[in-house]
Amino acid sequence: MCRLKSQDLDGRHERGHGDRKAVSFFQSTVPEPVLVLSNVVVAFGALRAVDGVSLSVARGERRAIIGPNGAGKTTLFNAVTGVLPPTSGAITFEGRTITRDPPHARAGLGIARTFQITNLFPTLSVEDNLILSLRGLKSRKFSLFGSPDLDEDERKRAERALSMSRLGDRRSILVKELSYGEQRQLEMALAIAAEPRLLLLDEPAAGLSPAERGLVADIIRALPRELTIVLIEHDMDLALGLAEYVTCLHEGRVLVEAAPDAIRKNEQVQEVYLGKPRHA
Ligand SMILES: Nc1ncnc2c1ncn2[C@@H]1O[C@H](COP(=O)(O)OP(=O)(O)O)[C@@H](O)[C@H]1O
Ligand SMILES: [Mg+2]
Repeated sequence: MCRLKSQDLDGRHERGHGDRKAVSFFQSTVPEPVLVLSNVVVAFGALRAVDGVSLSVARGERRAIIGPNGAGKTTLFNAVTGVLPPTSGAITFEGRTITRDPPHARAGLGIARTFQITNLFPTLSVEDNLILSLRGLKSRKFSLFGSPDLDEDERKRAERALSMSRLGDRRSILVKELSYGEQRQLEMALAIAAEPRLLLLDEPAAGLSPAERGLVADIIRALPRELTIVLIEHDMDLALGLAEYVTCLHEGRVLVEAAPDAIRKNEQVQEVYLGKPRHA
């Protein structure tokens, strides 16, 4: 697949209307970028956790972000979701600048990330957690007591999310009775139910057994092809098995960007990543 740096993509926009033929040819051969980061810096005092990252993710792409602990991966996600607005640089989603938009505005545009475990309600069922999450999206008042009152669209979304996250037969189980792996599946279900166009997964398989990791990989692999997925993953085999393209971060910077095979062989990646313990 043809790969572009963000400068090239900017260049495309600068062609303007006088060169329509070239633009339409270009658009038919290169997938439209969904997410573009240009020179993004996130500083905590003197520490630049993200130190000038530029990257571009195409529609429908499955991108892995790898790198040793402390490389800046989660901070980069926080910049994309709006939890930590960048100190400098720019972020666009589907061509629209979102650099300073608050998290709820970005969610409304179609960006979802996996929820932390603490966002699940342990004493409620799988299905009720989904309903709460769907209602939260619509900011309607929700009462668990009384009629669940799901409209047709919500019912379909809940069903689809349950089935995609392989929790269809666990719908009435209380979250506290789910295994840890199933709780991670439910986090994915909540993100899927939002029907995002960009899904950010921060170590969805962390702390899981090999069998559970395999299931999470199968779930991700089976997500709709048009959904753009950016996955942070420590488990190199899992990340390289799922991604079409890989960005390796080191000390807040892009060390290497390449296809999985080239990443596996890359000496710089091996030095900073494979040579060190994968979990701190
Ligand atoms: N809220 C914060 N305040 C201060 N330093 C932080 C904060 N979040 C992350 N860091 C620091 O930023 C660096 C990158 O962290 P992080 O993005 O969590 O790395 P990764 O996800 O790649 O392991 C680390 O040195 C970490 O200690
Ligand atoms: Mg992290």
